[in-house]
Amino acid sequence: MKILVTGGAGYIGSHTIIEIMKHTGWEVISIDNFSNSSAAAYDRIRSITGKSIRHYDIDLRDLSATSKVFAENPDIGGIIHFAAFKAVGESVEKPLMYYDNNINSLAHILKCQQQFNVPYLIFSSSCSVYGNLRELPVTENSVLPKAESPYAYTKQIGEVMIADFVNVNPDCKCIALRYFNPVGAHESGMNGELALTRPNNLVPYITQTAIGKLEQLTVFGGNYPTRDGTCVRDYIHVSDIASAHVMALQKLIDEPDFPNYDIINLGTGNGVTVLEAIQAFERESGVSLNYKIGERRPGDVAAIYANNTKAREVLGWVPQYDLDAMMRSAWKWETYLKE
Ligand code: UD1
Repeated sequence: MKILVTGGAGYIGSHTIIEIMKHTGWEVISIDNFSNSSAAAYDRIRSITGKSIRHYDIDLRDLSATSKVFAENPDIGGIIHFAAFKAVGESVEKPLMYYDNNINSLAHILKCQQQFNVPYLIFSSSCSVYGNLRELPVTENSVLPKAESPYAYTKQIGEVMIADFVNVNPDCKCIALRYFNPVGAHESGMNGELALTRPNNLVPYITQTAIGKLEQLTVFGGNYPTRDGTCVRDYIHVSDIASAHVMALQKLIDEPDFPNYDIINLGTGNGVTVLEAIQAFERESGVSLNYKIGERRPGDVAAIYANNTKAREVLGWVPQYDLDAMMRSAWKWETYLKE
């Protein structure tokens, strides 16, 4: 079977391709326009797996170019759709860019899924759809509040688009996976998150500060109502996220009675504070991090972590990597980049 991975050169996409190649006989093709990645990711995949994949440098907003990929590959049996913009702060600054890219790309993927009779879709959603929900840990059946950012809203809209689509296309099935905070790198240290610009996310910021690319990390807020005053998040190893995609797709293939649409949280279920994350990093790297406690970042929620019972029960998915392993691999990747 052939699987189309969109955003295959990106952080989670590339790790998922590696998992697919390691654990399945599926053939992978990738679409990526390198808007936040580079073709070097395909070389890294080849170094780790020993295999090359066919890839297309196209923008999913171009429907005719996207359709051509499907026409050229009539044996595509499943799609894993990662390609999207993902920076919360940037989405507040440039909302139309986010609506245009994330919504139109998904609409085109669904159009092609229908036109070319592709039965299965796995969609990248995000815990940001839960916004400021007060009840923790969050479960999939929570009623979603208003999104806190255009980025989060594109994920809420995306989920609704898919639910409406499969409702009238019963031959198409989809699982939306709501990621919590994906971090870390492939355990070889040879593939990880490549921040093309100054990183926004905590772990790349930590590793780049530790290696000297950035001067100092600012912890955004030290007076939240949490155990040490810093925000609580559910960090999850990128390879665990990747393996869940393989399991979700396999589930749709194996179980004809599986619902046409389902939503599953991907998190470890453990809430970790920013200071605990920093301590784990220092322990694993042996580097003492230069950081200070600063102002809160606008838009941050104090605490969010997953109830992951559904992923465990429905997919049989169990996270394999703990926080120390996440930090160890992230550091291995940062030092690999320096070599
Ligand atoms: C957010 C979204 C998540 C999305 C991700 C992508 C929420 C709840 N989560 O994650 O769905 O996939 O963006 O960008 O909306 N921090 C610092 N200093 C830094 C950077 C971060 O203290 O320099 C802190 C933040 O305040 C936060 C934690 O580290 O408490 C994690 O931040 P980050 O990695 O940016 O992810 P989220 O904002 O949680």
